[in-house]
Amino acid sequence: MATRISELAQLSGQQATIQGWLVSLRKGGKIRFLVVRDGSGVVQAVVREEQAPRQVWEQCADLSQEASIEVSGLVRLDQRAPGGLELVVNGLSVIANSADYPITPKEHGVDFLMDNRHLWLRSSRQAAILRIRSQIELFLQVELGRRGFVRVDSPILTPSACEGTTTLFETAYFEDKAYLSQSGQLYNEAAAAALGRVYCFGPTFRAEKSKTRRHLMEFWMLEPEMAFASLDDVMDLEEGLITALVRHLLAEASADLALLERSPQALAAAAEGGFARLSYDQALEVAAQAGQPVAWGEDFGSPQETAIAAAFDRPVFVHRYPTACKAFYMQPDLERPEVCLSVDLLAPEGYGEIAGGGQRIHDFALLQERLAQQQLPEDAYRWYLDLRQWGSQPHAGFGLGIERTLSWLCGLDHVRETIPFPRLLTRLYP
Ligand code: 4AD
Repeated sequence: MATRISELAQLSGQQATIQGWLVSLRKGGKIRFLVVRDGSGVVQAVVREEQAPRQVWEQCADLSQEASIEVSGLVRLDQRAPGGLELVVNGLSVIANSADYPITPKEHGVDFLMDNRHLWLRSSRQAAILRIRSQIELFLQVELGRRGFVRVDSPILTPSACEGTTTLFETAYFEDKAYLSQSGQLYNEAAAAALGRVYCFGPTFRAEKSKTRRHLMEFWMLEPEMAFASLDDVMDLEEGLITALVRHLLAEASADLALLERSPQALAAAAEGGFARLSYDQALEVAAQAGQPVAWGEDFGSPQETAIAAAFDRPVFVHRYPTACKAFYMQPDLERPEVCLSVDLLAPEGYGEIAGGGQRIHDFALLQERLAQQQLPEDAYRWYLDLRQWGSQPHAGFGLGIERTLSWLCGLDHVRETIPFPRLLTRLYP
């Protein structure tokens, strides 16, 4: 196999072959510079008329952007070259040409880029975002594994709602109907009673007619769930994971963050931990003081979340929301049943809620009552009630939205760039 560009430095002074795509071609009188990328990095390949075989010199004259090529040459360390090394070319073969590649270095509108998302992914910025996404997904799973969590995959086709019936995607299921999962949480709760500490990680779906920079119809959620655990345990775990993640990215993804012009200073405070824990009531005050009042009992919208988060330089927890504005499974605070043991984590800089969770109802009768209040069919939740019938225990967990987290960490304007093929209110292509 060819050498990956990221490994070329180890071959300094030696002959190497790389395979990749042409980013750009610059022509001088007797010299041509090919910038080549292969996904692991970018290298400048230099073709000199007097050194390179005639055929190579001629061939590279009409290479077009994104042509796939194999380039051989001598690896030479050179501080002036981008990436600190160059390839002095002595062999070139064109694997496939790429005439009139639609995405050129000039500015393109968002709609055009989204229509060409399958090609847009090749740009250095999009590739950097996808690499960081992959790092986040891997790191968080390793970190959960280190903390004794077992990954248990939850189903995507489900018979009932987890997060309210208004945002369900319905699909035919032979003679019956099924819904695309809004969250793996309910199944996680069953798994937590088997394994103690579990998480699921997969795509989740919300048929929410929201056209904002934070909403996707399909997004990925990492959802840890712990048996014998409380609201405070959830906040401790969230803070531990986010802090470790930010530290990891600052250390391991600095080049990609720099490419995205994301200043490490913007993330430095989050790497220290010490996230404030406000009650809903306290948060309501903060929002009101910042000119974004809402009546007690109402959920916060984006303006309130932004105002609350703006009071802090790192993520902030808001816990104990009014029971009426949260899902049926939330454990009411026994000292004050009008609020529940729920918690949202708000990211700074206006990125809003990146994680939501809390303590679940573990009492059979109370859960039955909540299902009835929300007019959810008890039949479909029979198995979920069973968990409260045999060996019930206080348990808690949360869901971290990968795209919103990535959006904040990379400093992006819109979640559409955080997922390879975004599903938006008005877009299902490509
Ligand atoms: O607050 P949510 O709805 O929580 C749940 O689904 C719980 N059942 C999770 C749990 O406790 N296991 O969603 C959790 C997170 C949000 O904070 C947000 O980051 C993300 O999922 N999210 C979305 N991301 C993009 N587009 C959407 N439409 C989203 N809806 C939620």
